[in-house]
Order: sequence, then structure tokens, then C-alpha cells
Amino acid sequence: MSVDSTFRLNPRRRRHPARSAAVFLCFAVVAMSPPRARAASAPREMVVAESAPAAQAGLAMLKQGGNAVDAAAAVSLVLGVTNAGSCGIGGGGFMLIYWAKTHQLYALDYRETAPGAARADMYMRNGKPDEDLARTGALAIAVPGEVAGLDAALTRFGTMKFAQVAAPAIKLARDGFALNPHLAKEIAFVAPMIQADPAFRSVYFTTDGHPEPAGAMIYNRNLAATLTALGDHPAANFYHGTIAAQLAGFVKAHGGILTAADLAGYRPLWRDPIHLPYAGYEVYTMPPPSSGGVVLEILGMMATGQVAGLGVDSPPYLARLIEMMREGFIDRAQYADPAFVNVPVAALLSPAHLAQARDRALHHMAAPPGAAAHDHGTSNFAVADRYGNVVDVTTTVNTIFGAKLAVPALGVVLNDEMDDFGVAPGVPNAFKLAGEKNNEVAPGKRPLSSMSPLIALKHGRPALVAGGAGGPTIISGVTQIALDVLAFHLGPAAALNLPRIHDQADPDMVFVEASMPPQTIDQLRAMGYRLKLVPELGAVNAITIEAGELSGAFDLRKGGGAAGD
Ligand code: DON
Repeated sequence: MSVDSTFRLNPRRRRHPARSAAVFLCFAVVAMSPPRARAASAPREMVVAESAPAAQAGLAMLKQGGNAVDAAAAVSLVLGVTNAGSCGIGGGGFMLIYWAKTHQLYALDYRETAPGAARADMYMRNGKPDEDLARTGALAIAVPGEVAGLDAALTRFGTMKFAQVAAPAIKLARDGFALNPHLAKEIAFVAPMIQADPAFRSVYFTTDGHPEPAGAMIYNRNLAATLTALGDHPAANFYHGTIAAQLAGFVKAHGGILTAADLAGYRPLWRDPIHLPYAGYEVYTMPPPSSGGVVLEILGMMATGQVAGLGVDSPPYLARLIEMMREGFIDRAQYADPAFVNVPVAALLSPAHLAQARDRALHHMAAPPGAAAHDHGTSNFAVADRYGNVVDVTTTVNTIFGAKLAVPALGVVLNDEMDDFGVAPGVPNAFKLAGEKNNEVAPGKRPLSSMSPLIALKHGRPALVAGGAGGPTIISGVTQIALDVLAFHLGPAAALNLPRIHDQADPDMVFVEASMPPQTIDQLRAMGYRLKLVPELGAVNAITIEAGELSGAFDLRKGGGAAGD
């Protein structure tokens, strides 16, 4: 057995600044055996998404002459119907665009914001944090950004009107769609929390109150009517007038603080993407309040020299990756909404910092985690069009069915994105990310996100488009796929098929997919790593682009579709 002694315990190890209880979420709903990805290739255009109807809707837009941004809007809206536990117009997201005409990257932030009445201590009760309030119920709801984001993207880059891109979603919501196994499992999982609610009950439960099984036809006619009512002026119609009043009235009736004025004040933001050279590519991602910088930092630490001569699935490579991942997650504590906190992205990505971070060896033993819980909200997809534009979107309502509240008359599921803030210093959120002062609640502030859409350019043209779902495993998953493709030259399906690892520094534990070969697991243990085997870690989608050939793959850990032409 060969083990790499570089990764033995090091007394200079750096601790995570805020410790949390060692309870951890397993991001899996179902264990699946390999293969874990399904792929497609096409010469001109490609869509990969966590739902086959969504990928088809995107391709339909491209075939109707639309571009990648038109397709992205259509895919987002369909995902909000077919994957409503993960995302929808009651949530928000990030869109990263490469625009061929300008050879530029654009980052659109339509993350939810804290309502105007939100306060840093809003989840304290009798002097103690009650983090459940940030996760379930009306106080968990942040101002949705999805509709404003799609409107802004279409207005700037689209060629189609909103009603045209919304047509596939409206049809599916109105005329029905077959419940996919992933959403069926999510419904069953959260059934005790949502089955009494009339809005969920009427859509996702049988008349005698059981969760609908996979394959059952699902209708959300109220959502179809809401999407129709958005017309060709979606932001104006969602954030003002009847829909806004209904939404705010519902939140108020349920004890929340989000108001019609909060909705009227919501604005998506165009931000400058951040980037780093890696292995002959220029890798772009979302700036704060995304954790894209953490992906870049881990990549930067894993500079080509660090991987040279190591096998993509070899224990020495994985050990190195664990160490770098942990460093990146420790620095994630410095990330938050840049309008409220100075995030030193340039310093964190500087060669000096990367070298220093790389030099730290960190691994250490820890108490085993407690009971695992399930979670799997969020959806990622990627689009490449025939004009050379590419888009990656990650969109979410946070945990499964967000705040577990839906507005009955609107058919809209409301997010629980407030849980992405630190409820109190050191208090872990649903993904066991410890609360940091940087990321405390403030009115109008955007919670720190792990969503990290990524586009890598080679000679100025997109070569890889990727992103993922699964809370902090987005960061580790996207990083691993980027390494697999950019450093090891694997195709997207081969990359997605590899078992993944995850180390977020806190809890002190390396999470390893159970499909990892037993001898690799033994060797990592022999190096001193405390491993926790989990069925699966998040879901990633990716498209690679070479001259005349687009290869797309979606992750069977969650299911989906790849459609190309
Ligand atoms: O923005 C974030 O980081 C979280 N709201 C993402 C949640 C997520 O991926 C849920 N999946 N397990």
C-alpha cells in the first residue's frame, strides 16, 4: 500500500474560526449505484439540466432561434415546475454568461435579500438562537430574486419575450407532468412538514393524503396562472400590484416580515465575475456573495505541479485535495455580501496567499458526526448555443420546498434563504456551515451562498461550463469536476462518474461517497483521515466544448436530462 507521508498530522494546522456541533447533513436522498452520469454529444447546441423536460424546453428555445439566455430563462422556469422542491420563482440564483459577441463574461446576482425589517438578532428567543425559525415558516423567507433576475437577463441579452420563454413551464404546470423520482422522494421526505398545508396538499398529495408516487401526473394550475399573469413584464408584474400584494399578505398572515415595499425594492445586480488562470485555462466564476472564490482558491492551490503524476482517483491526489479543500473552506468564513463586508478576494487569490495556504497541512481527527439528515434543494443547469454563447445557472429555494410554505392562490413555493445567514456566531445552518459575524443578518443584505457556476475559457473560448447543487458540496463538487476536466482531461460523464469527497473544515471529517473503491478508503484511513461514508455528495452538471463537439452530462445522483442538436 502506498501512502503519501506529506499529509501526516501537522501541528501548525489551522482551525476553523467558529466551531459548531459535529452534526452533519448527508446531502443524499437516494443511494444510487454507478454510473452516476448520463451524457449526450452534439455539434451545435446543448442543454444539461436536473430535469429532462427542462433540458428539452431549453433546446426548444434554441431551435426556435433563441440564444443561450433565452434558453436559460425557459429552463429556469420549467425547473420551478418539475423540480419545485429545489427552485422556482419564490427563490433566487446566480447566472454566469459568456457572450460570444463581446468575448466577455457577465455575472448576474439575483440572490434573495433580507427584508427591510430583518435584524441580526431576529432569530434569538429568550437569549438563545432558534435556528429553526430561519429554516421553516414565514420568518425564513427572504425577498425572492428569481423573476427579477430572469427579466434582467432577458432584457440585456435575450431575443425572446418572457411569455415565449415561459410557455413550456406554463404548459407543464397547467396540463401536467410526470413526477420525477427525485421530487417524489423529496415530497415523501418532507411530507410531515407540508402535507397539512392546502397549497402543497392540492398539488403533491393524493386525495386521501399520501405523497404522490414517481410517475404520477402533477398539476400546479395556480402556478401556471401566475406565470401567465407575468406576461411580458415579469418584474413589474411580480414585484408590484396584485401578485406582490398577495405574496406580502400571505407572509404577514403567517407571521413574517417581508412586505410589499421589500418586493418593490428588489433589484438584481450585474457583478464583475472573478477569475484565475489554471492549467492553461482562464477559470471564471461568480464573485461574493457567492463562494465561487473558494472554488478558485482550491484550484489555485491545486496548481498543475500539485497534481502532476498523480492518478485522478489515487489516495495521494485525494489527500492533497482534502487538505486544499479544507483550507478553502476555512477562508470561506471571510465571504459575505460585499455591500456590507469587505471580502478580500484579490488577496485570497493572490499567488502569495495560495502558496501559503498550500503549505499548510491540516488534517486532524475529530468526533464522529451525529445523526445524518437529508437535504437536496437547488438546481443547476448549463446551456451552450450555436452562436458560441454559454450560460451556467444555479438557482434555489434553499432546503427542500424552502420555508415549507407556498402561497395557495399563486402556486409559488417560498424560499428559506435566511438560513444561509449566520443566525448567531458559531451556530450552524442547515448545511452545518458555522455562523460568522460577516454573514450576520442585516436589512437588504444577501446571504452568503455556496452556489458557484463556473466557465473555463481556453484561448478565450469556453471549454467547460459547470455548476452544482447540494449546499457546500457545490464548492467541492464543482472544484472536483473542474480538476477532472482541466487537469486530468476527462470528459464530463467520466468526471461526474468518479466518486467524490468533501471536506468543509468543520465538522472535522472527510465525507466520501460510498462508491469509492474500498482500497482507496483504506489508504485514506491509513493516512489518518477520519472518513464518513455517505451515499452521495451533491449533483453537478457540465458541458465541455471542443471544436465541433459539445459533450454534456447530467448527474444521475439527482437525475435530469441532456438535450443537444
Ligand atoms: O446558496 C446556497 O448556498 C444554498 N442556499 C444552497 C442550497 C442547496 O444547494 C440545497 N441542496 N442541498
